[in-house]
Amino acid sequence: MSNKEIMIGAGTSSPLIARKPGYGTMRLTGEGFYGEPRNREGAIALLRKAVELGVNFFDTADFYGPGVTNRLLADALYPYSDDITIATKVGTKRGTDKSWLPYGKPEELRTSVENNLKELKLDQLPLVHYGKAAHSPGDYEEGLGTILALQKEGKILHVGLSNASVDQFNTAIKMGKVASVENMYSYTQRVTDPASPYGFQGGELLPLCQEHQIPFIPFFSLETSLPTGQNKMKELADIKGVTIAQLNIAWLLHQSEWILPIPGTTSIQHLEENINAAGISFSNDELAFLD
Ligand SMILES: NC(=O)c1ccc[n+]([C@@H]2O[C@H](COP(=O)([O-])OP(=O)(O)OC[C@H]3O[C@@H](n4cnc5c(N)ncnc54)[C@H](OP(=O)(O)O)[C@@H]3O)[C@@H](O)[C@H]2O)c1
Repeated sequence: MSNKEIMIGAGTSSPLIARKPGYGTMRLTGEGFYGEPRNREGAIALLRKAVELGVNFFDTADFYGPGVTNRLLADALYPYSDDITIATKVGTKRGTDKSWLPYGKPEELRTSVENNLKELKLDQLPLVHYGKAAHSPGDYEEGLGTILALQKEGKILHVGLSNASVDQFNTAIKMGKVASVENMYSYTQRVTDPASPYGFQGGELLPLCQEHQIPFIPFFSLETSLPTGQNKMKELADIKGVTIAQLNIAWLLHQSEWILPIPGTTSIQHLEENINAAGISFSNDELAFLD
């Protein structure tokens, strides 16, 4: 395995190898991450281009659209080649008014898994991230227990956590094998900012993932960084002749070998830039400068 790859489910009989970076599909939807994209053919072309450029890890959810990114993945890539991993997630649902609703009761989680299987045209989901939406009814153990039961039934290969707190992580590793953790994390939001709407404890979870050798999948890494000043990032990007987005992705990859970024984009040019960011190296001085 090269240093541009990461193993999901190490120590199990069916580990998966993902190349870094992967691709997050959430943006291939309509406004507010709801409905069909404005350019469906363009979205399909982008997914096919990603595979052509070496991407083999895709992040999706049945609640993106809803159903939109799952169907796009199937339309673009089915039948999937053996090395492609599609990671999906459960625990929330979209209201018809575009609201995000809790969807975490056992029967709801089962429905969500079935929706993902149907929309993705799969008999087994390679990786499912379970997240308990804030204020949703039911306890964490009951929800995760349902997902682990679905894994035993063969509907899911690997189980990961989404938006997990440290407490939830510590509960989960006692209940079963945690294959991955997907939390918000970026250059500008490394630890939980209580004032941020994205209080997802990325920086708090990363050391635990490293300790347990579990891939950490950061999301909103560009979303939360690009709009901010980032003077040091800009200065160094100019010197290195790369874009700020690329430097952000490269910085993530240099925080830990266990990080698997999944930048989302609707642009093929950005997609190519993001993939090429994996080739950017840093001197120790450059990393210290950015810190
Ligand atoms: N587990 C969870 O709860 C959770 C929550 C949110 C998201 N996610 C997953 O994480 C993935 C990533 O998050 P995200 O897509 O919301 O945000 P992101 O990757 O942090 O940022 C995407 C934004 O950055 C821009 N961008 C991307 N590449 C760029 C480049 N090279 N240069 C300039 N701008 C660039 C995109 O615009 P353009 O389209 O113009 O490139 C878009 O506005 C999602 O797609 C989703 O799969 C998971």
